Amino acid sequence: MERRSRGLEGKVAVVTGGGSGIGLASARALAVEGARVVVSDIDEERGRAAVDTLAAEGGEAVFVRTDVADSSQCEQLVEAAVERFGRLDVLHNNAGVAWPFRDGFTPEVSPQVWDRVIAVNLSGVFYCCHFAIPVMARTGGGSIINTASSMAHLPLGGLDGYAASKGGVAQLTRSLAPGCGRLGIRVNAISPGYVDTPMNEMIWASPALKAGFERGHATGLQTPEEVADVVVFLASDASRSLTGAVITCDRGWTAFKQPEILGGG
Ligand SMILES: NC(=O)c1ccc[n+]([C@@H]2O[C@H](COP(=O)([O-])OP(=O)(O)OC[C@H]3O[C@@H](n4cnc5c(N)ncnc54)[C@H](O)[C@@H]3O)[C@@H](O)[C@H]2O)c1
Repeated sequence: MERRSRGLEGKVAVVTGGGSGIGLASARALAVEGARVVVSDIDEERGRAAVDTLAAEGGEAVFVRTDVADSSQCEQLVEAAVERFGRLDVLHNNAGVAWPFRDGFTPEVSPQVWDRVIAVNLSGVFYCCHFAIPVMARTGGGSIINTASSMAHLPLGGLDGYAASKGGVAQLTRSLAPGCGRLGIRVNAISPGYVDTPMNEMIWASPALKAGFERGHATGLQTPEEVADVVVFLASDASRSLTGAVITCDRGWTAFKQPEILGGG
């Protein structure tokens, strides 16, 4: 029997929002597979700490500070990846913000908050794809993985900017697939449920809320590491049948109605 690896050895991956949560887990998982990783984050301290973690685990990684809401910084990120590692094979568009108190029900959301949420969560994905796709195509293609959310499929209500941005990520992913396919690039999105990351601090701080969210997933709360396993799968050739897919990897969150949390029966 011939043993097979996942084929990520030596590939070059950019992970945005790689300093924390799902992005950090993704960067680590890709590095474990032998990929050379460009960790990108707006938070320099977190990003540098992530690179140190990857290096301590035997991985190869560099940090590039990027605000994905700024198109010129996304261009510089892609250039930095090529300058450092010579190519780009995997792009995990993962940076995102969720602001439960500032984002909310549309009449109560300031246009400035709306603009920033859309700029980071949706335009950031567009900018990175815009600059990365021609570069990936030059070396025969690759894999783009966009972090959407269960909110792209099942909004909770009351986080209108976030839900809209993630719906946009899902649809951009589908719309990009045919054009990317002609360039040898697959593009998919992942929609996790509620993952144990700093983004959900507010949920974890309340035992009642946490228990409710736990019950809302068919098999309990998710870890960032298990989401990263899906990223590795999508980055690898094992997922070659998938492009334009928006995958609900959410422990069943969107598979059934959430009575306690949605306030219904
Ligand atoms: N945690 C969840 O339950 C969950 C569920 C579904 C989807 N998501 C999505 O997963 C992604 C990662 O979320 P997480 O839970 O790991 O959150 P997190 O807050 O732990 O990590 C997000 C990272 O993105 C970085 N970031 C924020 N704004 C940025 C910007 N403008 N440019 C570059 N980096 C920026 C932050 O500094 C942080 O390191 C987000 O897109 C989020 O919307 C999270």
